[in-house]
This record gives sequence, structure tokens and C-alpha cells, in this order.
Amino acid sequence: MRIQGIEYEELAQRFGTPLYVYDGDVLTDTVTGLRDALHPKLEIFYSLKANPNVSVYAALRAGGARAEVSSLVELRTALQAGTAPEDIIFLGPGKSECELRACVETGVYAIVCESFDELDHIERIAAQWGVYQRVLLRINPTCAISGSRLTMGGKPRQFGIDEAQVLAAGDLTAKYLHADVAGIQVYMGTRILDADVVGKNTRYILDLAERVAETCNIRLDTVDIGGGLGVAYFDGEQDIDAVDVATEINPLLDKFVGAHPETRLIMESGRFLAGRAGVYVMGVRYVKESMGERFAIADGGTHHHMAAVGIGSFVKRNFPAALLSSREDVGEPESWNVTGPLCTPNDSVLKHADLPALRPGDLIGILNSGAYGPTASPGLFLSHGYPAEVLVTGGEAHLVRRRDEPEDLLRHQILVNTPSERQSR
Ligand SMILES: Cc1ncc(COP(=O)(O)O)c(C=O)c1O
Repeated sequence: MRIQGIEYEELAQRFGTPLYVYDGDVLTDTVTGLRDALHPKLEIFYSLKANPNVSVYAALRAGGARAEVSSLVELRTALQAGTAPEDIIFLGPGKSECELRACVETGVYAIVCESFDELDHIERIAAQWGVYQRVLLRINPTCAISGSRLTMGGKPRQFGIDEAQVLAAGDLTAKYLHADVAGIQVYMGTRILDADVVGKNTRYILDLAERVAETCNIRLDTVDIGGGLGVAYFDGEQDIDAVDVATEINPLLDKFVGAHPETRLIMESGRFLAGRAGVYVMGVRYVKESMGERFAIADGGTHHHMAAVGIGSFVKRNFPAALLSSREDVGEPESWNVTGPLCTPNDSVLKHADLPALRPGDLIGILNSGAYGPTASPGLFLSHGYPAEVLVTGGEAHLVRRRDEPEDLLRHQILVNTPSERQSR
């Protein structure tokens, strides 16, 4: 198994395991493919929460992605990669005063505002700075959609302002002088694999944008149609096809652009852009049998890849996986449980997976792992810390994040002498 001509074994020797490996070509090509298929007026904003590594984002930016960020560090990451402030939006339900100030100071294109309370804060901060800060109202739609694996709207949620409340708010331009409300954002849900669901969402959002503009007397500088495009992880799932999405939404966007030629149109995407570009590489440490089942105990697991382990899911399903070691004698597939080093039975990456006979030193790759990996996992459990990350681009492998060493983790702890300790001196 190779990536851009490089053996995974070579990468494991050079950088150690467990290790995340990203294919820079896949990252760039995925954005280019999506942009080529979708309406030319629709801009793709990469959700850094999916994978905030600055070099991963830079590879996506090379394909034309802009930045959707949700924290101060994500904002700084986007800027460090060379993104112009007008190509950055900032969203998230609990923005701090410091984050809001950084948005205003940086001059980000828009703050996506999630409550009227937050809007008052933005108004105050923008007034203090003597500037107009563009704001998009995140709206929690009245109806939920089906077809998303995790629904973000259409029910009581901390995200956004209820559609009914926005429509009842009246003339917003009269009330907010420095918070320049000039558009809406709606994010219905994530892991959508059906193009027609994206079509239904988009129709709803574009229609809602026009209703809000009229009722609240705001300009429509921007409509952010969310996204949530998924990646196939489990048996029976199929990747969503950019061309199918285009077939559903391009005619809707075309009509909208006809009526609102100046409006900037945004789609947010994290998982779809980064997911398929990443492989989580684990080394097998021990093999054993327990009560008739085979176990390969590896050096990676829940602490780096909670999604593959399935914490929070009702049923354990396996991510796609492959033996990455190059050897001739693979034989017939056998049923293997691949587990990690944590002291919990939940630390089970693969259950009854068909794999060749495994042995210590083998490398196992969990595929489609480029999104919601280490930053969305309990990395400090058992104090293992962050794995190394490598980006392969132009046929060369580059370390883009070094693994946490024990010193990195211990440095943050403070030893306090207890009273009994002092007495015994
Ligand atoms: C508001 C918002 N935008 C974008 C994303 C990115 O979603 P995805 O990775 O499914 O594209 C999320 C994920 O939760 C989100 O909450």
C-alpha cells in the first residue's frame, strides 16, 4: 500500500505510529471537483473544525476553499495560511468577548450570529471600534430535515435563532446600527449522503432568506446555505456525488442569482473536503485470542479517532480498513478485533473485521479518516497525547504536526506539596 508512490511502511519508520497521513492531492482535487460541479457563484468555505491542521487547510485553499472558523486559534490558522479576511466567516454558539473583538479587529467578512444576546454584544463592540461589522443571522429553521445523520436544526437547539423569532423581530436596521445584519446562514445537519436532501434544504434556505430580508428590512449581501455533505463510512453507504448535488441545487441557485445578482452565496463543508484524504495508521503491538475471538492490540485507538471507534453510536460499525504492510503471505481473510491501548472495552477500533492473519509489527490503516480525527477525540485519556500528522504532497512526505512527547504533556501539570508531605520533611 502506497500513497503518491511512498510505502506506508516507510512513513511509519520515519515518523512512528500511530500516525495520521493526508494526501494533499486528494484534498486539493476534492475542492476543485466540488467547485467545478457546483454553481459558479457558490463559494466553498472549509469548516476548519473538521481538521484544523494549517497545512491541510493550505492544501484545500490551493483548490479554492475559503475559511469558516469557530475559535480564535482557527481564525489565526486561516490567517496564517494566507486567507484574506474577506474570505473568513466566524461562527459558533458561545463566542467569547475576545473572539468577537478579534473578528472585528481582523475585519472578517462576517460573524455568523447565533442569538439576539450575541447580536447586542457585536453591536456594542463594533460601536466601540467605530466600525460596521457584517453579521449573518444563523437561523434555526422551523422544520427539521430527514436524511442527515446528525440534525442540527428544526428542534430546540443552542444553535442559531428560531425562525419564528427572527421573522417576528421587525426592522433590524432600526435597532442595530453597527452590527450590520446583511444575510442569513442555516446549517441543517451533517453526514448527508442524499443529493435530494441537499436540494430540499437549499430550496428552504433560499426561500427563507427572501422572507427574512423582507420582514426584517435587511440587505441580502450573503446567504450561507450550510452544507453537511457526507462521506461513506459504513457498509451499504455510498459517497454523495458532487454532480448529483449540482443537479439538485444549481437550478435553484441560478434562479436566486437572477433575482439577487449581488448576493454572495456560501456553502460550508468540512467532512466532505477532508474526510477521504486521511488514513489513520496504527501499528499492531500484540496478537492474542480470547474466548474464541482474535484480537490485535494496536498502538492507536479512541484517543485519536473516536469516530471510528463509534463512541456515542448505538451500534458499533467498522470504518473501512486495510492492512498497509507489504507482504506476500497474506492468506485468506480472518475475523479480527482491533483494539487500542486504553483501559476500557470501548477502545475497539474494528470489530469482527475481515483482515489477513495479523502479527506484531503489522500496520493497519483506517481509511476515510481525514475529518474529525484527533481534534474531535479524547486525546489526553491515559495521557497518550496527540499523534504525528504527515501531509504527502508532490510525492514528498512532510511532518505537519509533531506527536506529543511526555514532556509536552507533563509541562502543563503543577505539583503542589500536600501538608503531610511538608510535615514529614
Ligand atoms: C455550523 C456548521 N457548519 C459546518 C459544519 C461542518 O460540517 P461537515 O463537516 O459535516 O461539513 C458543522 C459541523 O458540525 C457545523 O456545525
